[in-house]
Amino acid sequence: MKVAVIGSGEMGRGIALVFAQYNNDVVLEDSFPQALDKARKYIGDNLSKMVEKGIIRKGEDESISSRIRYSGSLEDSVRDVDLVVEAVPEIVGLKQEIFENLDKMCKRDAILATNTSNIKISEISKNVKGKERVLGMHFFNPANRMKLVEIIRSEFTSDEYFEKAFKIGEDIGKTAVKVLKDSPGFIVNRINAPDMLFFCNVLDKQVERPEEMDLYARGQGLPMGPYELMDFVGIDTVAHSLDYYATTLSEEYYQCKTFRNLVKEGKLGKKSGKGFYDWSSGKANIPKSEPSEKVTIMDIFAIEINEAVKLIEERVALPEEIETAVKLGLNRPFGPISVARSLTNAEVKKKLEELSGFYGFKTFEPAASIKQGKLKEIISIKSFPEAEKKEPAEQKSMSRGLEEKKYSTLILEKRENHVSRILLNRPKHNFINSDLLNDLEGAIEEVWVDKDTRVLVITGSGETFTAGAELSQFIPGLFDFVEYSRKGERIFKKLQEIPKVVIAEIKGLALGGGFELSLSCDIRVSTPEAQMGLPEVTLGLLPAWSGSQRLAKLVGNSRAMYLILTGKRVTGQQALEFGVVSELYPKDSVDIDTIKLAESISIGSSPIATSLVKRLINRGADVSYDSGLEMESMAAGILYGTEDMKEGITALLQKRKPNFQNK
Ligand SMILES: NC(=O)c1ccc[n+]([C@@H]2O[C@H](COP(=O)([O-])OP(=O)(O)OC[C@H]3O[C@@H](n4cnc5c(N)ncnc54)[C@H](O)[C@@H]3O)[C@@H](O)[C@H]2O)c1
Repeated sequence: MKVAVIGSGEMGRGIALVFAQYNNDVVLEDSFPQALDKARKYIGDNLSKMVEKGIIRKGEDESISSRIRYSGSLEDSVRDVDLVVEAVPEIVGLKQEIFENLDKMCKRDAILATNTSNIKISEISKNVKGKERVLGMHFFNPANRMKLVEIIRSEFTSDEYFEKAFKIGEDIGKTAVKVLKDSPGFIVNRINAPDMLFFCNVLDKQVERPEEMDLYARGQGLPMGPYELMDFVGIDTVAHSLDYYATTLSEEYYQCKTFRNLVKEGKLGKKSGKGFYDWSSGKANIPKSEPSEKVTIMDIFAIEINEAVKLIEERVALPEEIETAVKLGLNRPFGPISVARSLTNAEVKKKLEELSGFYGFKTFEPAASIKQGKLKEIISIKSFPEAEKKEPAEQKSMSRGLEEKKYSTLILEKRENHVSRILLNRPKHNFINSDLLNDLEGAIEEVWVDKDTRVLVITGSGETFTAGAELSQFIPGLFDFVEYSRKGERIFKKLQEIPKVVIAEIKGLALGGGFELSLSCDIRVSTPEAQMGLPEVTLGLLPAWSGSQRLAKLVGNSRAMYLILTGKRVTGQQALEFGVVSELYPKDSVDIDTIKLAESISIGSSPIATSLVKRLINRGADVSYDSGLEMESMAAGILYGTEDMKEGITALLQKRKPNFQNK
């Protein structure tokens, strides 16, 4: 593809580099020759560093570099390109003029994209005749390293161009998210906007000093506190954004004295040597202070969740897109949607009422859905009616074989021959989060009362069982973590209690919580190359969904110690030798082979006998040998009166297969 990048500054040079890296022919255009020289040097230095770090091979730097042409003429640069990405300064008039020219100079079907941070796309395309091909491609700084690109449609953008741009975003190795409305701040900057209003007013109202907040933030594991970060970015840039949000979101954004005063005094942060802190040594000199908890992380979470809910209510973006965008755009381990999943509506509402009361801002008042107690509903939305929807392959497959769309993170299949199957179904590695635990509990209970099911198979959709608990899921405090651990134990224990045979089909990865899930099943089968293990101690955790107990019971203390203390993975082959798995099946046929095993039990064994045996083995481990024998003879007595026992013996004598009726 041929691409032109207009403006070779901070953003344009990174955008040009990333397109060239992915084999596109790029023209980087700037009206200032010095700017082009700087960009050439930046790109050359970056390529050399990439070779040094082994990101690309020697020689590749030259071929990437040869794909970038530098130009000082707009017309010459854009004549035959398929895509233009404009990255000139954030001045409406300048961008409008450039787009008016692009409309005349480019091929009729070329995509015209702007990297604007704030200006409405429809305003930029004001003088363009073919408005349907104008859209936003919002990269993050540095564009060649940050994974995220927001693809923004204006009210005029056509589906065709929007989809094309989205695909291009993914083709250059980015995670593209869809912004369905041309709304101020798009996703990431919008979520960040009320944070800035908040941090400014914390100072205006003298709630605490910058260093108190920043030391608290560092104590929470952040590399930089918010004030240090604003100093780093430039307080003038922050104040400029606040002005923009004051004209687009709410006049309340004007109410921010401290930041504006600093700008008036020329204290812009790192770039001027002084801001909230002194930067004369090149680093922020943060005065010694005790971290304060007058402002807590919960304040920020509530504000961001509120803004995310507003974005969904306004149909700007879907919850999962917001989560991804905030994680990647702000380099966070979790976004507002996963935090919201761990909190109750009441907790978020109460915090927002406190904040809006204290600061007197409507911006912090709970959004409509939170007021109505519908936080959980709104953050679970998967599509807007008639709206664009990103449907990854994994999600598409969810609807296949799904009896009812009751569960969002797994598929429950009721199959023939008394077998049901649960397919864990989350993007990438079927990571277990709170939603999946809830769905799993629901599905186990559904199978429990389903008279037809005798054997339940649990596996992952796609190539992996599950890579374990989603570590980025936010758990607010110590006791919440204890409860989260108990929740997993309780749900997994249901697999032991359910009077049906449960088989774990392990393939790909079964790590941490995923391996613990398999250990809670009655039988495990695996592919030879599957990898399983409990790496928790290497992360400062421990297997807390019953793994520490179950593994020792299953393989003995010595082997359990070895596996848990080293965090080492074992293959399916080794797990067979350890006695963790009972059968190995080839990767290509493991799904079918496991179902065959399930059917051999569901048809070939009496369901009353199998459920009694399961209980005897599980409970027998907790009682004395004699008590176990007593339970065994009682259970045998119960079986003796069943029709299925008569059927089993009759079928043997008549040399036919039994037909058990569960009676
Ligand atoms: N800097 C960021 O962190 C960031 C992040 C995301 C988006 N953006 C947006 O990207 C755009 C560019 O920002 P930047 O930080 O790269 O700005 P910049 O000032 O670093 O670069 C702009 C470049 O455009 C050139 N230029 C000016 N007028 C021109 C014209 N008529 N034709 C061609 N080139 C021209 C300048 O010489 C300069 O090299 C802005 O819209 C900005 O809001 C910036």
